[in-house]
Amino acid sequence: GRTVEYWLTVEEIDCAPDGYRRKCMAANGTIPGPAIIADWGDDVVVHVTNNLATNGTSIHWHGIRQLNNTQYDGVPGVTQCPIPPGQSMTYKFHASQYGTAMYHGHFSLQNSMGLHGPLIINGPATADYDEDLGSVFLSDWDHHTAFEHWSTIATFNVTFNGLPTGLVNGMNTGNCTATNATALDPNCIGGGEKYQVVFEAGKKYRLRLINIATEAWFQFSIDGHRMTVIQADLVPIVPYETDSVLVNMGQRYDVIVEANAVPGDYWLRSGFVSECIPNGAPENITGIVRYNKNSTKIPTSVSTVVQIENCLDEPAARVVPWVPVDLTNMNGGIQLENVTGEYYLNKYLRWSINQPSGGFMWTNWSQPALGDVISGDLGAIPRSNNIFQVGVTAYYKNASSETEWVVLVIEELTPIPGISHPMHLHGHDFLVLAALPNTRWDGTTNGWQLTNPPRRDTASLPQNGHMVIAWALDNPGLWLLHCHIAWHSSQGFGAAVLESPALIPGSGATSDWENDFAPVCENWNDWY
Ligand code: C2O
Repeated sequence: GRTVEYWLTVEEIDCAPDGYRRKCMAANGTIPGPAIIADWGDDVVVHVTNNLATNGTSIHWHGIRQLNNTQYDGVPGVTQCPIPPGQSMTYKFHASQYGTAMYHGHFSLQNSMGLHGPLIINGPATADYDEDLGSVFLSDWDHHTAFEHWSTIATFNVTFNGLPTGLVNGMNTGNCTATNATALDPNCIGGGEKYQVVFEAGKKYRLRLINIATEAWFQFSIDGHRMTVIQADLVPIVPYETDSVLVNMGQRYDVIVEANAVPGDYWLRSGFVSECIPNGAPENITGIVRYNKNSTKIPTSVSTVVQIENCLDEPAARVVPWVPVDLTNMNGGIQLENVTGEYYLNKYLRWSINQPSGGFMWTNWSQPALGDVISGDLGAIPRSNNIFQVGVTAYYKNASSETEWVVLVIEELTPIPGISHPMHLHGHDFLVLAALPNTRWDGTTNGWQLTNPPRRDTASLPQNGHMVIAWALDNPGLWLLHCHIAWHSSQGFGAAVLESPALIPGSGATSDWENDFAPVCENWNDWY
């Protein structure tokens, strides 16, 4: 592999993606930020400069395994200090997988302010298509900033209606009067545009769908067209054909669309899933597919897609990894972690993983826990850095290989009507052995899918139910496991998984980790 090098500058900008001007945070001045593109096997070097006035920042490479490279994972409080204003940090990682990943701010609510962009790793040409149209970011959006919303969310105001609109690849047209501004508002400057792609009849196009929403599930479809799904996250799957795909926060799907409809203008739809947004699901989150690049027609196409009424993942029967796995000879113990959402103090909602009531989060930005792990001082990790250690809980053996797996059951015990949670694990992809709503784990492996289950890096923990995930213990590090709903991770819905601490690079010995990654965490602010 080569070494590819990129530069990202994190800055505050005025943006108006749907014609309404507001404050945003962005990489290199655009939302989404520029694409980072590498080939499978390359080493990637990214210099991140923080040009924010008073806020710290960090960038996480979502989906990248960071094999033996935990210190470059980009998580304040876990693997590094936030990068102070005016300073830079160089991230390095190996492109050991291929497909569609992304980068995004992992500090505070900066991701929801627009700090995200595509990270594409080109792999072997296994799929049949004529043109790669690149990434298509699906996001929710509002004319208030995420920080303005946070004050409502943090107190769990149950009347919160969701973000009222959304963007497709950072674009949309908006009607200022339709949301929460008036036409007289000086910030209502107009000029938004729909995301557009041009098809040539008979050709096949690859689109890389990425859900980067703050709190929305999207059912993606293109009127008059079907699609073939070829990858789920960074895992190639046995291709399946469908008329829509449900993309949960943090998930990616690569799809191939054939231009085989009657030439014309068609809506491309990023549809909110109704059950997950109690009121007022917006319907205008669209782009346009045109067969004639000079057309300016507003499409009149209608959707024939049946709306999905849950926020679960694409069915396991569809998401079948290309490379099969078989855990039927697995034996050993199973680790159980409880997730609870609870009212705390003055109606603040806190989430916790494996913590007693009132347990706090991994949001102690000033003291990255990896420092204590590397110096071998696990006892020094403050309780507010919620960490649990995984042991060898299952042992899988076949003729040619021996692999140790951790099998983790996560139960969702929220005493309030639940929603599903897109759980993202850093440092690994994982197998989804079971995912059932409204059901506690019965303490057995009955019903688990042990032969070729879905494999990915973000999967949905069903509401008031449980999910069983398994991953090979082959990447020593401190890996965040968290809900990708921005409010939930801000409310503490995350824990760091400590894997094989003695094998973490630099561990114990004369490490320069503190100099390189956590000099002194200061000169930054987490509130915008
Ligand atoms: Cu996409 Cu921990 O993040």
